[in-house]
Formats: sequence, C-alpha cells, structure tokens
Amino acid sequence: MCGIVGYLGQKKASDVILSGLHKLEYRGYDSCGITFYSEKKDTFITHKDQGRVRHLEDDFDYNHDNHLAIGHTRWATHGEPTQLNSHPHRSADGRFIIVHNGVIENYHEIKVKYLDNVTFTSETDTEVIVNLIEHFSKSLQISEAIRKTLSILEGSYALLILDTEHTNRLYAAKNKSPLLLGVAENGMTMASDVMALVGHADHYIPLEDKTYTEITATNDGFVYDMVDVIGKPIQTKMIKMDLVTEEIGKAGYAHYMLKEICEQPSVVRKIMNRYSKNGVFHIDENIIQALSSASNIHIIAAGTSMHAGLIAKHYFEVLAEIPTQVHIASEFAYNMPLLGEAPFFILISQSGETADLRACLVNLKEAHHPMLTVTNVGTSTLAREADYSLEIFAGPEIAVASTKAYVGQVTVLLILTFLLSDKKMFDLNAELSKAAVSMEAIIDNRDYVRQLVKDRIIKTSCFYIGRGIDYYTCMEAALKLKEISYIQTEGFAAGELKHGTIALIEKDIPVVAIITQEHISKNTRSNLQEVITRGAKTITISMKHVSNMKDDIVLMDTHELLTPLVSVIPTQLIAYYSALNLGRDIDKPRNLAKSVTVE
Ligand code: AGP
Repeated sequence: MCGIVGYLGQKKASDVILSGLHKLEYRGYDSCGITFYSEKKDTFITHKDQGRVRHLEDDFDYNHDNHLAIGHTRWATHGEPTQLNSHPHRSADGRFIIVHNGVIENYHEIKVKYLDNVTFTSETDTEVIVNLIEHFSKSLQISEAIRKTLSILEGSYALLILDTEHTNRLYAAKNKSPLLLGVAENGMTMASDVMALVGHADHYIPLEDKTYTEITATNDGFVYDMVDVIGKPIQTKMIKMDLVTEEIGKAGYAHYMLKEICEQPSVVRKIMNRYSKNGVFHIDENIIQALSSASNIHIIAAGTSMHAGLIAKHYFEVLAEIPTQVHIASEFAYNMPLLGEAPFFILISQSGETADLRACLVNLKEAHHPMLTVTNVGTSTLAREADYSLEIFAGPEIAVASTKAYVGQVTVLLILTFLLSDKKMFDLNAELSKAAVSMEAIIDNRDYVRQLVKDRIIKTSCFYIGRGIDYYTCMEAALKLKEISYIQTEGFAAGELKHGTIALIEKDIPVVAIITQEHISKNTRSNLQEVITRGAKTITISMKHVSNMKDDIVLMDTHELLTPLVSVIPTQLIAYYSALNLGRDIDKPRNLAKSVTVE
C-alpha cells in the first residue's frame, strides 16, 4: 500500500517521479505528492493533494530544472486522505523531507519520548519519522541520525528522505515494505515496484530489511552506499531489468483488467513453457522432495489468492493425496490451528508483499517450518524469505482486481500436484492446451457476455452458486463482482442455500450457477430450479459435457480438474461489464489497493 519513488540523476527528476507515480498508483490512490529541488530557485518545492496523479499534474509547475526529487501515492492508514496528510512531509524546522510506505507501530511512544515540543501538522505516523531524524541530526551526522531513527522505529517502512542541506544526495531505508534501487550510469531511481524503474535503470537491487542507503551525485557519476543499522556494509544482489515498457501499457484495451483477462490463455501457455522441457513437466526436485515427505499441507493466502488455494487444496487431495487445509492469512497469523506431524506450508501471493502473509511467514520461520511461496514477483519479500519459491510468470498485473494471477496460481499449483501424483490420470500438456483454447473461445465471445450482463445483472445484489470446485470458483466470482462493481454478492455452496439464505431470493434477484462437474451437476441444477421457482433471474455457466440446451454460457470441455481455469473467465467478464455499465473506476476501485502491505 502506498507507492514511493525517488530520483537523483541527469534526467529531469520531476518527470521521472510523475511517470513513476502513475505506474505505482495501483498501490494506493487517495492522494499523492512530489518534492523536487529547483535549481533555478535553489529551494525545495512541494506539490501535494487529495486525489489522483493526473490531478496533481494539472497544477504542476514544469518550469524548473531539477535532478533530485521524491514522490508518493497514498492509501490512507493514519489520517484521512487530505492535502495535509498527503506526503511528502517536512520536519518542523524544514530541514528534512520524507515519503513513507508502511505503518509505524510505536509512533505515539516516540512522540511522547522524543518529540513533545514539536507541533505536528498532519495526523500521520510519517511526520513522527521525519521529526525524529531532525531531532537526532542536531547532535549526529545525517547518516547516523537516520540510522539511529531506524533503530527506534517499530513497524514497516520504505522511506525516501531529502536533506535540504545536501542537494546532491538522496537517502533511503527499508523494513518490511518493499523498496528497490534502480541503477543506471546517468542516475539512480528508488521505487516500491520494478515498474517505476522501467526506462530509468539497467539493473536493480532489492533492499534488505533494516538497511540504510545513501545515493550521492559525485563528479565521477552516481554512487550508492548500503549499510545495516549499525553502519556495516551489506552484500547486495544486482538483478538485470527484464521488464519492457510494452508490458506495462494497456495495449489498446480500455482497462488493464480487460487486457489482463484477455492475456490469460497466453499466461497458461507461458507457464507450460517455463515448467517443461521437451514436453515433460519439471519442478525443482527439492520442492517435490519436501512436499512428498509432508504429512499434511497448509495453504495460507488472502482474497483471490486464497481462492486459488482452495482449488489447489482439491488438487493436493485428489492428485497428490495429501490432506490439505486452506487458511485466511489474517486469521492464521494470530490463531494458529493444530498443524499435524510434519506440516508443509504454501503461501500464495500475487504481489509477494501482503502483510498478513508476512506475519504468518515470520511465525512459521520462528518455528522452523518448511515453506514454499507461489508468487508473481520472484524478487518479492515472501519469495526471498521462504525456503522455496515458484513463480507464476503472469507478467505485471496492474488492475487492482486480480485475474491473470489467479489463473497463473492455479496453473502452477496444478503442475506441482500433478508431478506429486503417482497416477498421472491424464495428459497434462494436452489438457492445459485445451483449457487455453477454451479460455480463448469465451474471451473472443465477450460481447455476448456483455449483452447477457445488460439483460440480467441488477444493481443491488447477486448470488453465485455451485458445488465442489465450482463453489470455490463462485467465491472468487463473487469477490470480483463486488470489488469492482460494488454490487453486494455472495458465492454460495448451492446445496446450502436452502438452509437459510434462500430467504433472500425474490423476484429478479440475479443468481449465476456454475456447473462443470458431472457427479454433482444434477444436484446443482435442482438448487438452480429452487431459485428459479422463487423468481430469480438466472445465468447458467456450464461445461459442454454437462450442459443443457438452455444454459447461457457453455464452455468448451477440458478435463474436469482443469475446469476452474475456464469457468472463472466468464465470471471475470461478468464483473468487468457490470462495473462498466455502472460507470465504476474499474482498474482502481474505491478503498482498495493492489498490494496490501498493512495488517
Ligand atoms: C483480488 O482481486 C484482490 N484485489 C485481493 O483479494 C488480493 O488477491 C489479495 O489482497 C491478496 O493479494 P496478494 O495475492 O498480492 O497476496
């Protein structure tokens, strides 16, 4: 949550920051701001306000040469999204300026202990950090003052700091929140996400927790120095930039979400390529070994990734025959259940930065439990800190509503469980290829779904019903519809409806049924009949082998275990077109952020 970006180099810094903020806006978009050093005026100028980056740009004064700047896009935690609470924040005596992503847990204690004579202008925890630096700078060198501050802060932070007395330097620090240093000969860029480095860096370094970085413009170029809190130099890992500008654009689609929905067949094919050689699937033998010796598996995740975990549970139990439980990360972190004799943990996270999951990881690490992270970001915190990690190679997912990452997670976990299974019940290559074609067919037919949505979905509420893995898809479908259209939606086990919730069904309530599994298709159809009798407006999504003449969306067949990859596509389209009809901000729905780095 929140995106930060900083630049010191030969380019116009404010351009780098504004374009970076656009790319980071998916992380939070309540308010935003920028501070740059104007060479003409020899002063630091700040623009910040409520609302989006494009709004900030409208009033921006572009007539300043500048080569040093920091920026922020905010998802409010402490204090409402107002101009005063927007970042950057300045220390009371004006010397230091800061942007922050994260949450400082002991900000109140710090205020009382060190800063009782400071007048604060915002309600943020961030203002405490910048004033604490100022406090220590009265008796210490700047680097010592920042490191001393870090040793006191509790919580999560990625910080970029400007010192108005050193206009050739940019300072940074990190703990738990992501921060990368982008390196190029003509300048250094720091950002929360690799996307903001595209075009400005040849290589990047993911910063380690509890570290301090100082970037300096010298006569010989731009140099950086990375140390831990006590000032000891640390080893860094330089990674080559492999993202290109095209991968982070909309490619002509009206929204990122639609683009990402349409990319899903190619995500499946890319994963097949990445995890196979000459048509034979392969995953790191150490992971296979570790999972084979597990008595049971615990999958931990949040939101859409948790729904992918539910599908994976089915795979682990049917294909690998390992008992598997799925946990909501925010629950597991503080209410750990009985774990079994030799448990193995799988953390699923698109971003690899979700704070609820990180809290679980810390607990599990302390207890020396083995862990695998399945993620879209190979360099993310959760990928680096787990014992093993598997990447889903979905490419950058920019819409807040997750679509292609879900399909990527399910595909990778299917391949993993398939390799763990002795039986090899089907030809995985052939079935995944069929699934990709079936996904393509419904994507190509999306105008039909658009019309269906126009006719059947209303504004106030909706139900998705299904059984078995279809029920899991219903949960994901419901989350997608509510998060971008704001229509109250429930994903329900079809057979459970009659035990109370059917009381909500009345004339014209939309009910979408998902039917893909032969052994329970008749049961779901009976439940569907029960809601039709009570006046519901229904949409039926089925696979060909279990379809009826009157079904609204009939999907091309693939093996029954792979149907979740296909049946989720029309539900994503239903969510997309419902939100479009209602004029919602599809890629940036209200109150949400892509990367949830607060607990
Ligand atoms: C999905 O559409 C959501 N925006 C959200 O539920 C998301 O899946 C969840 O916050 C978990 O994120 P992660 O996969 O990055 O950990």
